[in-house]
Amino acid sequence: MNQSRFAAVILAAGSGTRMKSAIPKVMHSIAGRPMIAHLLETLQPLSPAATVVVIGPQMDAVAQTVAPAQSVVQDPPLGTGDAVRAALTRLEGHLAPEGCIEEVVVLYGDTPFLAAETLSGLLAERRRTSAAILVSGMRPADPGAYGRLVLAPDGTLECIVEAADAGPEERAIGLVNGGIMVIAAHHLCGLVDALDSDNAKGEFYLTDIVRIARRMQLPCRTVELPAEELLGVNTRAELAEAEALMQRRLRRAAMEAGVTLIAPETVFLSADTKLSRDVVIEPNVAFGPGVTVGESARIRSFSHLEGAVVGAGAIVGPFARLRPGAVLDADVHVGNFVEVKASRLGAGAKANHLSYIGDSEVGARTYIGAGTITCNYDGVNKLRTIIGEGAFIGSNTALVAPVTVGAGAIVAAGSVVTRDVAPDALSIGRAQQVEKPGRAAAIRARLRRKN
Ligand code: UD1
Ligand code: MG
Repeated sequence: MNQSRFAAVILAAGSGTRMKSAIPKVMHSIAGRPMIAHLLETLQPLSPAATVVVIGPQMDAVAQTVAPAQSVVQDPPLGTGDAVRAALTRLEGHLAPEGCIEEVVVLYGDTPFLAAETLSGLLAERRRTSAAILVSGMRPADPGAYGRLVLAPDGTLECIVEAADAGPEERAIGLVNGGIMVIAAHHLCGLVDALDSDNAKGEFYLTDIVRIARRMQLPCRTVELPAEELLGVNTRAELAEAEALMQRRLRRAAMEAGVTLIAPETVFLSADTKLSRDVVIEPNVAFGPGVTVGESARIRSFSHLEGAVVGAGAIVGPFARLRPGAVLDADVHVGNFVEVKASRLGAGAKANHLSYIGDSEVGARTYIGAGTITCNYDGVNKLRTIIGEGAFIGSNTALVAPVTVGAGAIVAAGSVVTRDVAPDALSIGRAQQVEKPGRAAAIRARLRRKN
C-alpha cells in the first residue's frame, strides 16, 4: 500500500499551561529527546507526503527541532480545531479531490509513545471502512481530563465530549480519545470550517468535527488501542510517568539485544543510546544523548556518559564522566573521577584515577597517571594536547596546552609541562627536592621552646 498519500499534522501550539514552564511543552525531553522529536521519528518510516507542525508564537526552538518538516504559527492558539485550520493553509491544493493527499492524520505533539505500526494500522483501517473520521480510543486507568468517546448503538462513533463539558453520565465513560485522528482529506476543510467555540473552554475543539460529520451523515469510527501508547503529557507528573515508561521500554530493548543491566531500574538511557552485545552496565549509570558502546565494554557504577563513543572491551568508571566528543578506542580504561571531553584515547590507553582530559589526543597504550590535568583553557581559547603512543604521564602532571608529548616519552610525576616533549625523552618540570639532614628535629625543638 502506498502510504505517502497522507499528510501528517502535529499540533504543538498550545501553551502547555499545566506544565508551568517557560519552554514549550513539546520541547520537554523524554529519554533525552524532545517529545515532539519522538513523534517525527515515528512518522519517518511511513514517509508522509507532507508534515506540518503547528506551533505558537515565539516557538522558534520547536521549528528548528522539527525541520525539515514545515511549521506554521497559530497566533493566538484558539484550540485544537483552530490549530488544524492553521495547518490547512499549508496543505491547500494538495488535498483530494484537487490534490493527491487522501487523508490527513492529526497527532498531538504531547503524545510521544505512538508506534509507526499502529499509525499505519489506523490508516489502513480508515481505508478499509471508508470512515470520514477514524479516532483512536483507549481505556486508561483514570480517564481524567481526556475527551469521552460516545458510541452509537451500532458501535460507530457518535461524538466526542471534552471532559470540561461532560455531564456525570458522560464522565463515567471509560473509552476516551487517545488523540490520533485520521480524516478523509476531501471532508476536512468543510468540517473544520463548521467548528464553533461554544463550549466550556471557549475554544475551537477539533474533537467537535465528529459531531458535525455525523450531522452530515458521514460515518465515524473508533479503534481501541493500548492506553500505554497514547499517554498524553500535560503535567510534570505525567512527564515523569512518560519518562519511566520510556525507560522501561529502552531497558527491555537493550536486554533483548544482549546487554546485561545488573539493576535495570537504576540505568537511565537515551532514546538514541546504542549498546552492543555483551556490554555490561553496572547499577546507577546515566546515558545522555549520542552514546555508542562497543561489544563487551563495561560501564561501571555511577558513571555519566553523553555524546561519547566507547570502544569494544573498554572499561569506564566507576564514577567516570564522558562528555561530548569523548572517543575511547578498544580496551581503554577510564577509571574513577576521570573526566574526558572532546578527546580520543587510543586502544589500550589508561587513565584510571582523578584526571581531566579535554581537547586531547592520547596515543594507544599510553598511561595517564593519577591527577593528570590537561590545561586546555586559557580563559579565552580552547587549546589542544597531543600525547603520542606508549607514553607515560606521571601522577599530578599539568599539561599546559597547546603542548605535544612525543610517543614513548616519560613525564615525571608532579611536572608542569609547558613545552613540547620529544619522543622517548624524559621530561621533568618540577622544583628540585632539597634535603637538610636533621633539620626536622631542630625545627621542632625551636617551636617547643617558643611555647
Ligand atoms: C486533547 C483532546 C482530548 C484528548 C486528549 C488526548 C481536544 C479539544 N481535546 O485534550 O479529547 O482526549 O487531547 O491527549 O482536542 N494545541 C495547539 N493549539 C491550540 C491548542 C492545543 O496546537 O490552540 C496542541 C497542544 O500543543 C497539544 C495538543 O494540541 O500538543 C493537544 O492540546 P492539549 O491542550 O494537550 O489538549 P488536551 O486537553 O490534552
Ligand atoms: Mg494533552
